[in-house]
Amino acid sequence: MTLILGLEGTAWNLSAALVSEERVIYEAESTYKPLHGGIHPREAAQHHASELKNVVSRALRGAEKEGFSLKDIDAVAFSQGPGMGPCLRTVATAARALSLSLKIPLIGVNHCIAHIEIGRWRCGTKDPVVLYVSGANSQVLAYRSNRYRILGETLDIGIGNALDKFARYLGLSHPGGPKIEELASTGTKYVYMPYIVKGMDLSFSGLTTAAKDALDTGGEKEDICYSFQETAFAMLTEVTERAMAHLCKDEVLLAGGVGANRRLQQMLQTMCSDRGARFYVPENKYLKDNGAMIAYLGLLMLKSGNTTPIEKSVIKPNYRPDEVEVMWRKKRKL
Ligand code: ATP
Ligand code: FE2
Repeated sequence: MTLILGLEGTAWNLSAALVSEERVIYEAESTYKPLHGGIHPREAAQHHASELKNVVSRALRGAEKEGFSLKDIDAVAFSQGPGMGPCLRTVATAARALSLSLKIPLIGVNHCIAHIEIGRWRCGTKDPVVLYVSGANSQVLAYRSNRYRILGETLDIGIGNALDKFARYLGLSHPGGPKIEELASTGTKYVYMPYIVKGMDLSFSGLTTAAKDALDTGGEKEDICYSFQETAFAMLTEVTERAMAHLCKDEVLLAGGVGANRRLQQMLQTMCSDRGARFYVPENKYLKDNGAMIAYLGLLMLKSGNTTPIEKSVIKPNYRPDEVEVMWRKKRKL
C-alpha cells in the first residue's frame, strides 16, 4: 500500500490529507475568510502560515486513529500551481520541510489536473470531457496523446470570480456563488445579459458589468442572479457539448467549486441525456479545493516515477495543465 500526504493551499482553503490507493484516510482543513471584500493573497498566505502546523497535525492524528503512523507516509505532494504566489510559496515551503525531515520524496502537482483526477477516481469515469469551473479558472479539457489538452477557456476572469464580484456588489460576503444560486432560485424574469462565446473560448467579465448595470437601473436582484446563471451556464454547456462532438466523447466530468451549483449540474445533465452521454459529478467536498485531490494525484505520479527534486520545486503561479506529461495514464492506456 502507498500512503501520500497532500497539501493544498492555492487560494483561500488550506487543506492536508492522507490518501492511499483504496481511500481518503483523513482530511483536515482551515478556510481563510476575508472580513470584507475578496481574497487578499498576502492575508490568505498569512492565514496558511499560521494554520499549517495545526492542519497537518490534525490530518496526522486522524490517520493515526485509523492505524497509520508518520513512518508509513511514502511521499509529500503539494500544489505547485496555478494559484496565488504568496499562498503557493507558503505551502511549498512546508512541503519541502516535511519531505526533508521525513526523508521521503516531494511531488509538485498541477492543481487543475488534481481536480480532474480526483473526479475520475471518485466517479469512475474513464475518458471524459472535463468542465473545470472554479473561482480563478474556467476550462474545458480532454485527454489526448499524454496530455490534458485545453480545448476552450475563459479569455478574462473565471466564472466563480464573476459571480463573486457581483455578489460583493450586492453586499454579500465571500464566497458569493452559493448566495447567487439561492437568489436565482426565485428569479423568474430574464433580463438581458451578454452571451460571449468566441470559438471554444468564453468571456465572463461583461456579465458582471451587465448585472451591476441592471441592478443600478432598478432590476430585481433575484431576476438578475437568475439571468446571470442562465447565460453563463448556457455558455459553458455549449462549449462542453461542442468539445464532446468534436472528439466523439460520451462522458462529461464536472470539476471545481462552481460545480456545486445545481442549475449548472442540471443543464449539463440535460445536454448529456439529449446526446445519450453520461454526466459525472463528485461529492461537493471533492469539487472545491481539497488536500485529498493533491495527495491522490501525488500517488498517481509517484507510482509512475514522477517525483520533484527540491531544486525543481519552485512554485508556478501560472502552471497550465497542458504543461504536464501525463505519465500515469500512458502505461495503463486509459
Ligand atoms: P481554483 O484555484 O481552482 O481557481 P478556487 O480557489 O476558486 O479554486 P474552489 O473551491 O474550486 O476554489 O471554487 C470556489 C468558487 O466556487 C468561488 O468562486 C465560489 O463562489 C464558487 N462556488 C461555490 N459554490 C457555488 C455554487 N453553489 N454556485 C456557484 N458558485 C459556487
Ligand atoms: Fe481549485
